[in-house]
Amino acid sequence: MEIKAVTGDLTGIKAGAIIVNHFEGMKHPDGDAAAVDKALDGAISRLIKQGDIKGKLNEITLLHSPGKLPASRVVVVGLGKKRELNTNKVRGAIAETCRYLRGKGVTSVATGAQGAGINRIKIEDTVQAVTEGALLGLYSFRRYITKKENNFGEIKQLRIVGQPKAMLTRAITRGRILAEAANWARDMVNEPGNFMTPAQMAEAAAQLAKEYGLKFEVLDKEKMTELGMGGLLGVSQGSQQPPKFIILSYQGSDSDKVDVVLAGKGITFDSGGISIKPSDKMNEMKGDMAGGASVLATLIALARLKPAINVTALVPAPENLPSGTALKPGDIIKAMNGKTIEVLNTDAEGRLILADALCYAKKLGAGAIIDVATLTGACIVALGNICTGVFSNNQNLSNKVIAAGNEAGELAWPLPMFDEYKEQLKSDIADIKNTGGRYGGAITAAKFLADFINGTPWVHLDIAGTYYTDKEKGYLVKGATGVPVRTLVNVILSLAKK
Ligand code: BES
Ligand code: MN
Ligand code: ZN
Repeated sequence: MEIKAVTGDLTGIKAGAIIVNHFEGMKHPDGDAAAVDKALDGAISRLIKQGDIKGKLNEITLLHSPGKLPASRVVVVGLGKKRELNTNKVRGAIAETCRYLRGKGVTSVATGAQGAGINRIKIEDTVQAVTEGALLGLYSFRRYITKKENNFGEIKQLRIVGQPKAMLTRAITRGRILAEAANWARDMVNEPGNFMTPAQMAEAAAQLAKEYGLKFEVLDKEKMTELGMGGLLGVSQGSQQPPKFIILSYQGSDSDKVDVVLAGKGITFDSGGISIKPSDKMNEMKGDMAGGASVLATLIALARLKPAINVTALVPAPENLPSGTALKPGDIIKAMNGKTIEVLNTDAEGRLILADALCYAKKLGAGAIIDVATLTGACIVALGNICTGVFSNNQNLSNKVIAAGNEAGELAWPLPMFDEYKEQLKSDIADIKNTGGRYGGAITAAKFLADFINGTPWVHLDIAGTYYTDKEKGYLVKGATGVPVRTLVNVILSLAKK
């Protein structure tokens, strides 16, 4: 989709549809809506008066404009209560409106900078949100649908009216970079496990390196053995698919130091292994590499935005399957730093591969570490599908991540890391065990990871509840969400600033 900034009046634009807004509780159309209302001889005013347009968030009203405007259609979208407006609501409302118009076969759309100036919303921020809303909301994964007629149309052009034009263009570019990175991650996660194997993930990262000038390296089984990555090797040993350890680096500053390591869980399919999962919804475990996809996707955005900071993405990528060679409950394995782990449940595999990734991050001398993982069902029990769980040894970094998520509309919330929780991980015959029982499962998983971190400032994001959605809502469509790509990009940008 082409998205461009234009100056002038929305009412003067020739398009399949123009979008104006209305706020809940307002008696008259305002701004662009007032200008359009005038051209339509008071049609919007009448609908408001009759109560057909209420302005509730994401309410969509379609009007035709035969001969009265160059645009064929007008959509009035509700933005809810004015004092509750924020850019995330704009992002969602534009997404829903664009999907609605695509359904009508509309191919060109124009809108103003929705909500600029309200509640101190900056014009560049809302233009970025409009751009993201359109690109994220119109995302679809239809690669495997062979019948052409089952594919819907396409909005080919979006014009955003406002000024100064150069500022709008910059905001559009930024929104595009963030949304395209998130959509790249969505593609990776939606791809089924028979295609998105560890080797395929490594290949995708290699492609990124070529396209964006990133540094790429992949460790194979021999190298993993040499480094003593017993967690990654252990989890992979039940599968026919050889494991990969993917390393992708963005260098934005002159120093050799790795400022931030982003480590992402890359289980390309999680059956649970010998501790096999129930079959209901097991298909969703093709997305157990969502953390890995998100850290790779973040580097795409960094390569395009070029902040002055060095960031390395690490993705341990195996497949977790049961077989005659699989890891068994009770087995003891040794992580890269020499720690022994008693594997009581082979379905608690994410922490085993992340243990090695975190050791590797330490070896790189990372200034800070952020890991992202679809780690625990317990995190979904605690927080639902609304927000990502945040676990950290560093209040400052943790606050930054949560703020960055807020900005992106990707909610995240902290859970405690009291040392008392670690007792649940005590093993009688090894240094640590890989499960801490049902109670506080998201926290004990985080405490397990913390054991491989020591002093480095670190944040762990448990995205088990947020990586996938079975509902179409706002800028989310069914399937992968792309969480937390835009959060990660925002964090890195904020770290690069100082
Ligand atoms: N990948 C799963 C966690 C998960 C569940 C993510 C549902 C997204 C949706 C993880 O590997 C897992 O199986 N965790 C276990 C840990 C338990 C055995 C200690 C869980 O949460 O049940
Ligand atoms: Mn599992
Ligand atoms: Zn898993």
